[in-house]
Amino acid sequence: MKIAIDGPAASGKSAVAREVSRRLGIPYLESGLAYRAFGYLILKRKGEVTKVSWEDLKPLFGLVELVPRVGSTEVRVEGKKVEEYVATEEVGGVASLIGAVPEFREEINRYFRKVIGDSQIVVEGRDAGTHIIPEAELKIFLTASPEERARRRVNQLREKGVEADYGEILRRILERDRRDMEREKYPFRPAEDAIVIDTTGRSVEEVVEEVIALARHTK
Ligand code: DC
Repeated sequence: MKIAIDGPAASGKSAVAREVSRRLGIPYLESGLAYRAFGYLILKRKGEVTKVSWEDLKPLFGLVELVPRVGSTEVRVEGKKVEEYVATEEVGGVASLIGAVPEFREEINRYFRKVIGDSQIVVEGRDAGTHIIPEAELKIFLTASPEERARRRVNQLREKGVEADYGEILRRILERDRRDMEREKYPFRPAEDAIVIDTTGRSVEEVVEEVIALARHTK
């Protein structure tokens, strides 16, 4: 079966999708990693970035590769694994700018569909249920309050030894939400047939149990 798990920044979607993939023993495609890998490449080439165009992105296709595995997605840039370099807030911000380029979304979604083929898979992102695998048998949309998402992001960064300012993180989350939802083409929205789960105050394990139960029910 194919499962789409979408949601805004720090809604818990990666932790949930990873665990659902593990529990069901089917591979996991974290689509945001592609946006981040292109963001990382652009930052490396340009230094500071305030706007990204299709002309900047087009020549970079072919340099980024995603390999879905059970419980993880491998991301390579020019053949090198870059998971640790793309996890920063700075790269996330550029990834969000890239998300507003419609030609990029069309091209990267073609790439995702080629990688997925007819395999069973968990696909996670912003538009898995609406554009990457609209044929998915199960579509989940995870939400959480902005304050809870900011707290989670601060804790994630602290676990990695990075000191983070709660107010600044909250501001960036709200800005990213606004940009992702208000872009002219392909705005970020739940699929009409998605099941919305509010994860505020709930543990990853609880949400995973709910998704697994839904998957069993869907089969
Ligand atoms: O899921 P994430 O935080 O790693 O994604 C980073 C950015 O990439 C996000 O702000 C918007 C963009 N993105 C997107 O537009 N569509 C996707 N399917 C995945 C990510």
